[in-house]
Amino acid sequence: MCKIISIANQKGGVGKTTTSFNLATALAINGNKVLAIDFDPQADLSKYANFDNSDGKPTMSDLLIGKVGVNYPTIDIEDCIRRNEVHTLDYIPCDINLANADLILSGVLSRETLLKRILNNDTIKHYDYVIIDCNPSLGVLLMNALTASSGVIIPVQGQDFAFKGLKTLTNVIKEIQETINPGLKIIGVLPTMVEHTNASKRVVEQLESIYSDKLFHTRIHKATQAVDSTMLKKSLCLIKGSKLGNEYTALANELIERVGV
Ligand SMILES: Nc1ncnc2c1ncn2[C@@H]1O[C@H](COP(=O)(O)OP(=O)(O)O)[C@@H](O)[C@H]1O
Ligand SMILES: [Mg+2]
Repeated sequence: MCKIISIANQKGGVGKTTTSFNLATALAINGNKVLAIDFDPQADLSKYANFDNSDGKPTMSDLLIGKVGVNYPTIDIEDCIRRNEVHTLDYIPCDINLANADLILSGVLSRETLLKRILNNDTIKHYDYVIIDCNPSLGVLLMNALTASSGVIIPVQGQDFAFKGLKTLTNVIKEIQETINPGLKIIGVLPTMVEHTNASKRVVEQLESIYSDKLFHTRIHKATQAVDSTMLKKSLCLIKGSKLGNEYTALANELIERVGV
């Protein structure tokens, strides 16, 4: 069965996009059929996946706005899917037009369920995993992603401990579970950019004490390779001997253990 997984944290710069792309490619390299969805108007995942916006095909923005319908053509999701052959990965790119989603979707009936309804489609059911790279806010886009998902992974920067922010996010997830999406599960909290410092060690220990078995055993360490990989538009998992690549492969294996294939 297709697992739809959001990579979410309303804080920017915690490693959502890096995790989305490298987890998606790790799963794809393992032989799974994977679709990555860029659901952030900043379109960082699209850039990572080497998206060329001159192809004239519709993006996630067109798909979501088209679903609302006002003076806008309805788009087929199949037309939005691109293929990145290097990583055997399918993806749907995003663009800046989705930045006004709160405004565009205000007053739209059942606006939190738009993405869920879009993904309720035979083409999508065909995938083993759909990985959604969320935007850094608690607005309507995140609500759509969490409503459409069966699970959520929360990357947390293993350096500064943003306890309040995490509590706010888990409260939002709880509200969504209690109302619109009872099937939503927190698959795990993922420490990212972990350093070999006492401060980083303390943060990870705190996370262990709060989240216990919800914390992934995998730790993503801080390394400049992450930035290089974005520039090269190449998954860390395809860079020979990459420590971060091995860590993301370990994360993919841990994910499969937790949610099944
Ligand atoms: N493990 C890591 N080590 C070092 N830098 C990282 C790591 N993961 C991500 N980065 C860098 O940190 C920045 C923010 O990461 P990103 O994945 O874009 O976060 P988000 O999507 O949450 O905003 C990017 O420049 C990225 O290349
Ligand atoms: Mg991002």
